[in-house]
Amino acid sequence: MRAAPTSPFSEIPQASPLPLHTMKKSPSPRVPRMPRVVRIAGNGSYVPARILTNADLELLVDTSERWIVERTGIRERRIAADGEFTSHMSVAAATRALDHCGLAAEKLDLIIVATVTPDTLVPCTACRVQGQIGASNANAFDISAACSGFLYAVEVARQFIANHSCENALVIGADKLSSLINWTDRNTCVLFGDGAGAVILRSSNDSSGILSTIMGSNGDQAEILKVPGGGCALPITADNADQNLRTLQMNGRETFKHAVTAMVRISLTALDQCGLTPNDIACVIPHQANLRIIEAISDRLNVPVEKFYINLDRFGNTSAAAIPIALDEAGRKGRIKRGDKILLVTFGGGLTYAASVIQW
Ligand code: ACO
Repeated sequence: MRAAPTSPFSEIPQASPLPLHTMKKSPSPRVPRMPRVVRIAGNGSYVPARILTNADLELLVDTSERWIVERTGIRERRIAADGEFTSHMSVAAATRALDHCGLAAEKLDLIIVATVTPDTLVPCTACRVQGQIGASNANAFDISAACSGFLYAVEVARQFIANHSCENALVIGADKLSSLINWTDRNTCVLFGDGAGAVILRSSNDSSGILSTIMGSNGDQAEILKVPGGGCALPITADNADQNLRTLQMNGRETFKHAVTAMVRISLTALDQCGLTPNDIACVIPHQANLRIIEAISDRLNVPVEKFYINLDRFGNTSAAAIPIALDEAGRKGRIKRGDKILLVTFGGGLTYAASVIQW
């Protein structure tokens, strides 16, 4: 009689149980619990010290201070130092956000970093942040959704907290976009800067909190804003290393059109979902890509541009960091007050877009 065939995996020993501290408590499926409202309990941000002005760029490419200001509104941007990476900027922003709400890093049970410029592909930047701030009880992972990454990450974390799967989440938007710039391409090199912003999310025990979030993606337009090389589809090799393939390429006009259309549409949908109109909004925190995009959205939403918080003149487009940096500044400068209803709206490569309505 032949022996029964053995599984190719039969020799693999059984995995030992996970250490207890890595197993998060989840609610019993037999005891349904009401979803919780989630609020932003703390904010922080960080930008590098080095300033790159439009006059500096005039020395690099065929451009002018006047063209950049008229077409974009940007006057200067921050550029990270050579040894300063996305994780370092993230840690600086995260530390300020933790201090802002008096939370110890060990109390965090979730860390999400939204970035397209991770220090390394493996490990993710969120794990580097976890190690550097000593958040030993947190799960950590990255999200890649270009400039929309921060709002995508906030929505993921919100669902964890709403569903009772975690209590304190740190969400960071951080990018060192200068590492993806072709400094000979005037179409892109004038637009971007480096930075990080962070929020602490917790459940709300009053009327403050995230009222609605709408996310969207349009992969049909993936080609209009991309970094073609450096992934498995087009690795950088000795033969193509001089072709600037690991840099951002953009069809500016197309991106502009899609940005305005998408941001207006999702803003109205997010407002409608929580029974509000643009009139109810005290402050809009838009993605900081171009002043003309913001003016077009202001016009179409019929919300005065004075209600938009704008800092792109000082920082340019910091990708996933743009919204949390602006939110942190707006809060610290008293532009948003407790009880205000605010609208966060963004747009980025993918294409991706998202809008959130929050009661502060
Ligand atoms: N200096 C001088 N001239 C320039 C520069 C520059 N830095 N850049 C482009 N030009 C020239 C162009 O070559 C063109 O010249 P031509 O007419 O001789 O061909 C002329 O200026 C006009 O170019 P346009 O592209 O039509 O200029 P536009 O007014 O559209 O402004 C810009 C360009 C600023 C890029 C705008 O289209 C824009 O902001 N688009 C959206 C960008 C955006 O939001 N990107 C980020 C998305 S977020 C993310 O995920 C990373």
